[in-house]
Amino acid sequence: MPSMATGDRQKFNPNNNRPQFGPKLLNNDQKSDVFARRQKIEQQRRSLPIASVEKRLVEEVRKNDTLIIVGETGSGKTTQLPQYLFNGGFCNNGGTIGITQPRRVAAVTVAKRVAEECNVELGQKVGYSIRFEDMTSISTRIKYMTDGLLLREALLDPYLSRYSVIVVDEAHERTVQTDVLLGLLKDVQKKRSQKTFHQSNNQANNLAAVKNENNGEMKPHLVKKLNPLKLIIMSASLDAKGFSEYFNGAKAVHVQGRQFPVDILYTAQPETDCLDAALVTIFQIHLEEGPGDILVFLSGQEEIESIEGLVRENLKKLPEPNQKLLILPLFSSLPSEKQLKVFTPAPFGFRKVILATNIAETSVTIPGIKYVIDPGLVKVRSYSPDSGIESLIVVKTSKAQALQRSGRAGREGPGKCFRLYPESRFEGLDDSTVPEIKRCNLSNVILQLSALGVDDIIGFDFMEKPDRMAVIRSLELLYLLGALTDEKKLSDPIGQQMARLPLEPNDSKALILATQFDCLQEMLIVVSMLSVESIFYAPRDKLEESRTVIKSFSSPDGDHITLLNVYRASLEFLERNKEENGKEKAEKNLRKWCKDNFINNRSLKHARDIYNQIRENVERMGLKINSCGDDMLPLRRCLAASYFLNAALKQPDGTYRVLANGQIAEIHPTSVLRRTKSECIVFYNLVQTTRNYVRNVTRIDYLWLAELAPQCYALKD
Ligand code: CDP
Ligand code: MG
Repeated sequence: MPSMATGDRQKFNPNNNRPQFGPKLLNNDQKSDVFARRQKIEQQRRSLPIASVEKRLVEEVRKNDTLIIVGETGSGKTTQLPQYLFNGGFCNNGGTIGITQPRRVAAVTVAKRVAEECNVELGQKVGYSIRFEDMTSISTRIKYMTDGLLLREALLDPYLSRYSVIVVDEAHERTVQTDVLLGLLKDVQKKRSQKTFHQSNNQANNLAAVKNENNGEMKPHLVKKLNPLKLIIMSASLDAKGFSEYFNGAKAVHVQGRQFPVDILYTAQPETDCLDAALVTIFQIHLEEGPGDILVFLSGQEEIESIEGLVRENLKKLPEPNQKLLILPLFSSLPSEKQLKVFTPAPFGFRKVILATNIAETSVTIPGIKYVIDPGLVKVRSYSPDSGIESLIVVKTSKAQALQRSGRAGREGPGKCFRLYPESRFEGLDDSTVPEIKRCNLSNVILQLSALGVDDIIGFDFMEKPDRMAVIRSLELLYLLGALTDEKKLSDPIGQQMARLPLEPNDSKALILATQFDCLQEMLIVVSMLSVESIFYAPRDKLEESRTVIKSFSSPDGDHITLLNVYRASLEFLERNKEENGKEKAEKNLRKWCKDNFINNRSLKHARDIYNQIRENVERMGLKINSCGDDMLPLRRCLAASYFLNAALKQPDGTYRVLANGQIAEIHPTSVLRRTKSECIVFYNLVQTTRNYVRNVTRIDYLWLAELAPQCYALKD
């Protein structure tokens, strides 16, 4: 039980529990309802801190080719600035305003909000484009997208000629894609302002017919003359100096935020079980504090779903009047209609509790939050050049992150932030987060930059140079995968093909190889299923039952084939049902089927979408989609041939030693191979918690390694 150093607590107000009575809406009322909503939105827009500086911002963008805008979260940067620029005439030459976000969720929710504010249909004037989902058309002028997506567009349109303005949002996050993008944009901007460039305008116009990778359609978009590119860097951290220096002394503008005082509460002792502490605190707030919504920061989908279940269970035990708590998860792979629910006010008398990943730190601003619960942890990528392995690890937040999180409680009035750690720990936190480029596997970045014609990664103008050793290891990996030639150029066709697929290099390689192993159909499914988090869902109170059910899908060969079995079974169920009951009913029945089988319906659906998208991608590349049917040997051999660097051998004590680097790990408790202990395995990822775990594991024959990956392994005897 976390003990909170709370002072006098406000008593729970029973008036909040009054049932809601309201008039039945008639058509005219509905109309006036729409009108009222529009008015409310207008009023909200006008009251945002950024609204008072609209004219000045537009002027500054007109005067400066590069501008840095710094402003607190919630001041209106992301939703308003693009509209100001549109109204200020920055699209008059037919150009588009592109706004990049590090996160998919932010791109989607913000685009929806802005479309509503502009009173247009989403996908018309205002749209978004993220990997595997495109909501734009030729009339789109305000386009939200992930930074990774803009990088992919640059492959087809090196001058980004359709854009008159590019806004790099959330730059303070310093994701690896943002950093690469900053370097690239700096270069594009320079090229577009060079006079000599206009001689090749024709070529640029051809390129402007950007073939949209997302859905393969051609979306012609003619720009008459390439104007200089306006570049805007937006950040929520108050330190603009780094960005300004990188962009040759670019001007920085500060937008005043509005922040009410937030009471910070710490636990008396360190918490051993963060989930439990968060759970207790949610109920403590719900039962003892005044009205206001709760925002909880959790490290990932799994934690969110597990705590969601626990809150529901515990809520049922409360007296009915206290049950009015609305639980809303928020993470990247959540379907967008569910994501948007967090922005809708809770019904009268209800309190919302939003269980979010780091998204809610700065990327999206959720109205109504008065209480923040911050366990002080965040999931990040981590790469060790020594071992060459990238893993996801949960680490302590930086001070800057802790402050951002607590700030979420004070946007509309005074709030409270419950930090689930002792005050002494806060003092020891790092000031700010290390840029991702310093702690991730760079092979994807190198692949992307090579495809853009940048061969010298070390010499590339990064805001912060990646670690030399990490670059070398990543080059090595690409070389071993056959993506790079001896001259460090993209190989043809493997490297070229890998750069075209919107996947991590290992996954791309697996797909490319799969045609040769006659199992591309199966590998497409496996890669799609691996791209989503947690297919299985096991509620704590039904652990035994779920294990038995899940076993019916499990394959003695491992998790990859188990995932394949789930996908095939669900598809078969869906098809059979469609014939009998029609499409809509079939989807509904599938949801029930998922529930009965302890399968996460939304993850499965997401995997199906991804499957369709990458299938199109590989088809367009001309790869033959063949199938190995029920013979799983080719698939396992193909996994060994692609993920050979993730091969591990069993040790006498039952742990596994990763062959490439000697690291010791255990098979994750959720793996179907957990008990069987095969001699040799390949794994998909390594997670570090208190121990090293390998997840998504398949049994292989170690002799295959020398046969299929001779560039890496040789037989001693
Ligand atoms: O980018 P910045 O953090 O400066 O602010 P913003 O994302 O533009 O948000 C401005 C306002 O729009 C906030 O008060 C949000 O509550 C609101 N908003 C919303 O109601 N629904 C959304 N989907 C997005 C923003
Ligand atoms: Mg923003």
